[in-house]
Amino acid sequence: MALHQKNATVIDWKSASGHKKITFDSKLAREDISRLESEVRGYARLFPAVFEQARGSTLIDSDGRQYIDFFCGAGTLNYGHNNPIAKQALLDYIQDDGIQHSLDATTRAKVEFLRAFEQIILKPRDLEYKIQFTGPTGANAVEAAIKLARKVKQRAHIVAFSHAYHGHTLGSLALTANDYYHSEYYGARDNVSHLPFDGYMGENVDTSEYLDKVLSDQSSGIPIPAAIILETIQGEGGINIASNDWLKRIEAICKKHDILLIVDDIQVGNGRSGKFFSFEDAGIVPDIVCLSKSLGGGLPLAINLIKPEIDQWKPGEHTGTFRGNNLAFVAGRAVLENWADDFEAKITVRSLMVQSRLKRLAAQYQKKGVSYRGKGMIWGLDVGKGEIAKAIIDEAFAGGLLIESSGADDEVLKVMAALTIELPLLEEGLDILEQAINKVLN
Ligand SMILES: Cc1ncc(COP(=O)(O)O)c(C=O)c1O
Repeated sequence: MALHQKNATVIDWKSASGHKKITFDSKLAREDISRLESEVRGYARLFPAVFEQARGSTLIDSDGRQYIDFFCGAGTLNYGHNNPIAKQALLDYIQDDGIQHSLDATTRAKVEFLRAFEQIILKPRDLEYKIQFTGPTGANAVEAAIKLARKVKQRAHIVAFSHAYHGHTLGSLALTANDYYHSEYYGARDNVSHLPFDGYMGENVDTSEYLDKVLSDQSSGIPIPAAIILETIQGEGGINIASNDWLKRIEAICKKHDILLIVDDIQVGNGRSGKFFSFEDAGIVPDIVCLSKSLGGGLPLAINLIKPEIDQWKPGEHTGTFRGNNLAFVAGRAVLENWADDFEAKITVRSLMVQSRLKRLAAQYQKKGVSYRGKGMIWGLDVGKGEIAKAIIDEAFAGGLLIESSGADDEVLKVMAALTIELPLLEEGLDILEQAINKVLN
């Protein structure tokens, strides 16, 4: 397959079923989208294409242009688009008339997913958790987590952190820090305090000390919360990485004050940090872990891992129609097979490639205030201003690369390729990114 070239001419995508002639009118399609779809749409504006097909780390649009994917569905496609093992498992399952919807009734697909998760993920890490299937999106898992914490501790308050991102349903929105998403009319910030994340006050201030102080002082104005919720790496917040020591101190503070620790691993779990769970390096064991995105092998699936002693739900007390998406169980179980091999080593090879390129770019543009940070396969290039990042994203898009940005002002380019991306494709994507940066910053 010829990879993308700038201003590529229309090509045919060689699909499994032969050559597909693309006949979809993309101009008309974009007009219909703006006529029919709500103004709330976002990525349709960032990536003005009509996407047709995707395989691995390559997408193709209706005009036959190819793109390398450094966006990865915001962490949903860690194993690539239409991962071949997941695809075959899904085809077989549908061919066999496997159960598609079952609320939370027992299905073979669910049992097999749970067994694989226990054997491949939990047991080797010596973790013992009950698994709750929430509604299928990340925000659904966060909602269930804070609700359970409130029930167990019989306290309403939750502590979250500066630059946190936990979703947009009203409970999860209350925890999401960025003011852009808020309106006082939503009434959604009740019972939540945002305290400074690791590094927020500069390198020399230990924000865990501040947290401990306000929780130890009954007159600080911050009540003892039911839970502290955190991302170990703030993906949407600008790739802010909590140190292992800080995470350990937060765990200790939770124990000291009888608070539950919730790790929201929705974006940086499923291998994104280099390990299956992002908190493994810190050696902490959260009371609740929220997982979603790549868990379903590309299909919607969300779970909470709950320490058995705090799994105090009554049957059916937290319910919903789409808890347990059988197709996602099938795809999710299939992609877990990756972890049976030495998958971490494969991630490390890719991680080092991205890191060395960003390091070089940051050095090249140091005088313009460019810096980089990251871990595993989530890396950020901080270009200082959202408008500069946007210009680079647009250039990269024109060159055939999908990439987005994050941070308070969207000033951090977020390099998030699939964990399974082929090395030449990763190199090529980095080349396109470098060209875009050179064009905008020179
Ligand atoms: C850390 C984190 N938590 C929660 C969410 C919300 O997930 P969803 O968009 O699937 O509701 C996201 C989404 O990006 C996330 O990154």
